[in-house]
Amino acid sequence: MTLPTTSPLSIQTRDTSGAGILVRVHSIKNEALSIKSFDLRPVEARELPRFSAGAHIEVTLPNELVRHYSLVNSTSESHRYVVAVNLDPASRGGSKFMHRGLANGDMLWISEPRNHFPLDVSAESTVLFAGGIGVTPLVSMAECLTSLGRRWEMHYFSRSADRAAYVDVLDALARRGSGTLHCHFDDIAEAKVDFSACVGVSASNAHLYCCGPSSMLDTFVEACADRPSSHVHLERFSGAVESASEGGYTVVLSKSGKTIQVEQGQTVLDAVLANGVNVAFSCKEGVCGSCETRVISGKPDHRDSVLGPDERKANRSMMICCSGCNGTELVLDL
Ligand code: FES
Repeated sequence: MTLPTTSPLSIQTRDTSGAGILVRVHSIKNEALSIKSFDLRPVEARELPRFSAGAHIEVTLPNELVRHYSLVNSTSESHRYVVAVNLDPASRGGSKFMHRGLANGDMLWISEPRNHFPLDVSAESTVLFAGGIGVTPLVSMAECLTSLGRRWEMHYFSRSADRAAYVDVLDALARRGSGTLHCHFDDIAEAKVDFSACVGVSASNAHLYCCGPSSMLDTFVEACADRPSSHVHLERFSGAVESASEGGYTVVLSKSGKTIQVEQGQTVLDAVLANGVNVAFSCKEGVCGSCETRVISGKPDHRDSVLGPDERKANRSMMICCSGCNGTELVLDL
């Protein structure tokens, strides 16, 4: 058995809730070509915190890397979390470690689940668009909708059938009566369809969810331009827009009583940390929500992928790892 080489403290510095959970790798399974799933069970408690469909956890790896993985399993389960990881050839250590460095019995620190991609279970019609490993949160959504007897439809895009994980699970859910699964795999010529067209023909009152590579998400946003923003949901695993690092403005930290200058080349987070103020953060790409900070005054230049259009307009909070300032001063609740 390998003992964890990170401490709960290292998670607390990254997790707004301050909570770290020690889990043991119960089993590892090959789900598709280059995709493995990891069944994580609690070490110190019988149950794990409940989660809702679309949620993710942060996993702190022994090399101090923090990675975010969507929960794949049923929201009715509290004895385990299941995540699935695609081995990225360009991995900086995250997926490589998960695939090659983990074994059954190993222990890891994880965060409590967070959900920036929640499912609206009251929607009359739900259409899920999955691209590759982006299927993971959508599997949990399909399971949730099926258990509630709600109708759903999924369009699953993959480079090839052997790289598509959870097809059998989704197929079984669809056969239970309330779902329809469409597989569009590039190696099956007759299964190829135009993604934008697929989005376009979805019912006008449908809630649409998309998770996949950045190019797919960009196309999804374009194809949904005429739909109400409250019906369009997506989750990114990397930042869509470059972080604001132009600098040239002042940030007043109301709690710590400091006024700091954000210089060219710095993000707000960089400047805050450089001034000795400890704040929670993780991805530094505007996708995890760990660094969300309340805005007391000033206009943020939102660059994250977490806040929705209405939340951006309200300017009540911002992700300080990537968002900047439209003006000369921000006052933050730090
Ligand atoms: S650190 Fe992840 S959104 Fe800012």
